[in-house]
Amino acid sequence: MSPNSFVLKGDICYSNSLTEINTVPNGYLVCVDGISKGVFQEHPADYANLPLLDYTGKLVTPGLVDLHVHAPQYAFRGLGMDLELLDWLHTHTFPEEAKYKDLAYAKKAYTRFVDDVKHGPNTRAIIFATLHKDATKLLMDLLEESGLNTMVGKVNMDRNGTTELQEESAEASARDTRAWLDETAGRYKRTKPILTPRFIPSCTDQLMHNLKEIQEEYKLPVQSHLSENQGEVAWVKELCPGSAGYGHAYDDFGLFGGDRCPTVMAHCVLSDEDESALMKKNGVYVAHCPASNTNLSSGVAPIRRFLNEGLHVGLGSDIAAGTHTSIFAAMADAIRVSKLRWRLADTSLSPLTAAEAFYLGTIGGGSFFGKVGSFAPGYECDAIVVDDTRYTAADERSLIDRLERTIYLSEDRDVVHKFVQGAQVF
Ligand code: GUN
Ligand code: FE
Repeated sequence: MSPNSFVLKGDICYSNSLTEINTVPNGYLVCVDGISKGVFQEHPADYANLPLLDYTGKLVTPGLVDLHVHAPQYAFRGLGMDLELLDWLHTHTFPEEAKYKDLAYAKKAYTRFVDDVKHGPNTRAIIFATLHKDATKLLMDLLEESGLNTMVGKVNMDRNGTTELQEESAEASARDTRAWLDETAGRYKRTKPILTPRFIPSCTDQLMHNLKEIQEEYKLPVQSHLSENQGEVAWVKELCPGSAGYGHAYDDFGLFGGDRCPTVMAHCVLSDEDESALMKKNGVYVAHCPASNTNLSSGVAPIRRFLNEGLHVGLGSDIAAGTHTSIFAAMADAIRVSKLRWRLADTSLSPLTAAEAFYLGTIGGGSFFGKVGSFAPGYECDAIVVDDTRYTAADERSLIDRLERTIYLSEDRDVVHKFVQGAQVF
């Protein structure tokens, strides 16, 4: 029998839809070959021969999905938070990322990042590395070994960097990207490449054209940053005078969604209706990063509007502009900032609820990976087991209450078991 087949007993919660959470106290999640067969009130007789993992009294939810995180920035979290984006990049981020040229440094820093994420609530992540090919390969090796399921990008940047952190030319960047893809091809089960132009200000037109060729040739998804900060948006207007907007600039290079180019864009704080209409049309995902947008004074993305418009939305930690890797923390932050936006800026856009934030951090982002983020039959079985006794009062509360408190109060240490595609990580 496959080791990825079992019945898991516990207090089970998962989203059915944006507004509806399914709760099954003392329920049974059936996983066969890494795929959910559903959640049952009674131990189903059909699966009586599978091993029973008994987590009675503990909360069981789908693993969380971080749609946007910079692994090399983990080492300087909490620094430079009085700056806005462009100054923060030049003062702290680029000098730190330049250190990943040194593989010994990269190994030390990436080991810590991977180990910490492994022991938190996230099972999936879409990750920026740095422009360095070999350090990116090392990060991918560590992630594969961790049991997490991720997409990782070697960053492309051939302008507006620093002497220590910038690729020599569009050709050099494209050449290194191809070498990275060729050298890692077929090497991993759970770690996939994603094309990663840092953002328009970092990439010349020539590089964007080269990346489109690579995207088509290797059939890659794409990640980048979009409409995060006022100074950045104004700069993109200058850099791409022929494009109708920031999103349109990516689209003009063929790197903004569509059937053959799944794309996730971080932030979208300043995306207007025209930009979000293009995202809707092209199926571009929004990675909402509320902590980052607060720390760098970027603003608050209009997530309620995006949801009303039918966009795909997930949550991102955006380490190191965000400070915590846990997507439970991102859920609480998303709710908080939506309340401030509603109260202070636009009462027509109602705040997010806990159920909605939970959806965004599970299925919302998980759907970028396929059938991920739920326990409905057919979903890949990513699950976490949370011991919430540290913050749950002795008087028993409903599962919905316990889940809400977990969103606001849990820490990584409360996650006691984790499964990715049915494989036990710990
Ligand atoms: N835009 C371009 N690079 C970055 C980055 O590293 N972090 C954030 N938050 N925005 C960016
Ligand atoms: Fe980012």
